[in-house]
Amino acid sequence: MDRLLLIDDEADVQYSFRRIFDSPEIELITASSGEEGLKLLARVRPDLVIMDVRMGGMNGLETLRRIRQTEAKLPVIMMTAYGTTQTAIEAMKLGAYDYLLKPFDVPKLKQLVGAALKSARDMKQVVSYEPLLESEDYDLGIVGRSEAMQNVFKLIGQLAASDATALITGESGTGKELVARAIYSHSRRGAQPFRAINCAAIPENLLESELFGHEKGAFTGATAQRIGKFEQCDKGTLFLDEIGDMSLATQTKILRVLQSGTFERVGGNQAIKVDVRLIAATNQPLDQAVAAKQFREDLFYRLNVVRIQIPPLRERQGDIRLLVNYFLKKFAERQNHRPKSIAPEVVRALEAHHWPGNVRELENVIQRAIVVAKGDAILLGDLPSEIFGSGPSAQEMETSRSKTPAAAGAADEMMDLPAVARTLFGWARRDGNLKVIPAVERQLIIAALAETRGNQVQAAKLLGITRATLRKRVEKFHIKQELSIQ
Ligand SMILES: Nc1ncnc2c1ncn2[C@@H]1O[C@H](COP(=O)(O)OP(=O)(O)OP(=O)(O)O)[C@@H](O)[C@H]1O
Ligand SMILES: [Mg+2]
Repeated sequence: MDRLLLIDDEADVQYSFRRIFDSPEIELITASSGEEGLKLLARVRPDLVIMDVRMGGMNGLETLRRIRQTEAKLPVIMMTAYGTTQTAIEAMKLGAYDYLLKPFDVPKLKQLVGAALKSARDMKQVVSYEPLLESEDYDLGIVGRSEAMQNVFKLIGQLAASDATALITGESGTGKELVARAIYSHSRRGAQPFRAINCAAIPENLLESELFGHEKGAFTGATAQRIGKFEQCDKGTLFLDEIGDMSLATQTKILRVLQSGTFERVGGNQAIKVDVRLIAATNQPLDQAVAAKQFREDLFYRLNVVRIQIPPLRERQGDIRLLVNYFLKKFAERQNHRPKSIAPEVVRALEAHHWPGNVRELENVIQRAIVVAKGDAILLGDLPSEIFGSGPSAQEMETSRSKTPAAAGAADEMMDLPAVARTLFGWARRDGNLKVIPAVERQLIIAALAETRGNQVQAAKLLGITRATLRKRVEKFHIKQELSIQ
C-alpha cells in the first residue's frame, strides 16, 4: 500500500482527495498546514507528498525547502492556482516532482500520482546484484549465475563505485532498467533522486523541453517557464531509456551537458550548471545507427566508455531455471501462497524456448501459468501454445490428472500421445515450414544440448548419432544462436 500525505489548508480539497483516492492501495493522510505536515512526515513516512503552494502559516515553498533538508528523494507534487505558476517553477527548482494547476483535472492528478509513486519505488528499492542463491528478499534482485551475468554484476559494482556515464545495451526485456537502478542504488548518489525518461515515448519536439526545460514563449504553447529533468535531478542520476530514438539535435545538447555540465533551457540563453550522472540504455545497435549517421559518433564514444551488454535470455539458458524459481517465489509471496512446484519437462520446455521477449516474457509466462495451473504444480498444459505446441485440452488434462497423483514428480506420465503429437505439430508450425520431422529433429537436438549443458559429445550420444552428424544438424538448423555451445 502506498502512503500519500496531502498538505492543504482547504477542507474542500481534503474532501475531494478522500473521494478520489478511496482505494485499498492508497492510504491518504492529511495535514492542514505546513507545520503539521512536517510533523507528520517523520511519523508516517509517506511515499508521496502533495502540497498546496499557498497556505496560511508556513507556505508551500518554505515547507518544501524544509522537507528537502531531510528527504532528498521523497517526491513532492505542488498544487497551485492559475496565475501563480512562477511559484510552482520555484518549487521545481527546489526539487519538486511536478506541479498541478488548480482546479485540477482528476485523470491528470491520478496519472501524476501514479508516475510519482513509481518513481518513489524506483528510488527506494535497493536492487541487489549479488549472485542470488537463497535470498530472503525476493523482490529486489537481479538473478543470474551464467558467466555473462557475472560479468554484468562485476560491471555494475565498478560503475556503482564511480561516477562514470554508462551505456546499457540489450534486447527488449533483458533487464536494462533493472541494471540501471542497481547502479544507482549502490552508487554514492543513492541518497539523491533518480529520474527515468523514455526517449521513445515522448514526441521528438517535446523531448528537449522535457529534458532541459523551456522559457516562457519559447514556442507556441509554452505559456510558462518549465524546469526540465536535468535541473530537477541535480546531484542525482538521470536514466535515459531508448537513447537510440533521440534526434540528432537533442544528442548535441546531451553531449554538451556531458562535456561541460551546462545547458540552456529551450528558448533561454542563461547557461545552467548541473551535476547529473547519466545512465543510458538502448535496444538498438547504436554502432549501426552511428554508421547510418543517425547517432552522433562523439556521443556514442562518450557513452560507450563503460558498456554493459546484457545478453538475450536464450544465450544464458542456465539462468532460466533460477529465474523460474525466483518468479515462482516472488508471485507466491505477493499472494501469500506457498510457491507452486514445476514439472521437470516444463523447465526443459522453457529452456528450449527462444524467448524473443527475454526475461519479461518469461516473467509473464510464469505469472500466467500460476493462474492457470489447477493443482500445486505447473504442468506443460499451463504454458502458452507458442512455447509448447498447443498443449493437451483441458478435458484430456482432467482425465490424465485423475489417473495420476497431482504431485509434480508424476507429471512425466502425463505425456499422452495425442498431446505429444499436437506439441510436435505446434513446433512444426512455429518453425514455419510445416514439416514435422525437421522441426522435431531440431527440437530434439536443442533438448539434448540443453540436457547436456551444450556438451556436443554427450548430446550426440544421447541422440544416438555421431558428433559430426550433430554438428551438421546444429549448423543446418541454426541452433548456435540459441545455445551457447561449448
Ligand atoms: N536478471 C533478472 N532477474 C530478475 N528479474 C529480471 C531480470 N532481468 C529482467 N527482470 C525483470 O524483467 C522485467 C523486464 O526488465 P526491464 O524492464 O529492466 O527490461 P528492459 O531491458 O528495460 O526492457 P525494455 O527494452 O523492453 O524496456 C522486469 O520486471 C524485471 O524486473
Ligand atoms: Mg526498459
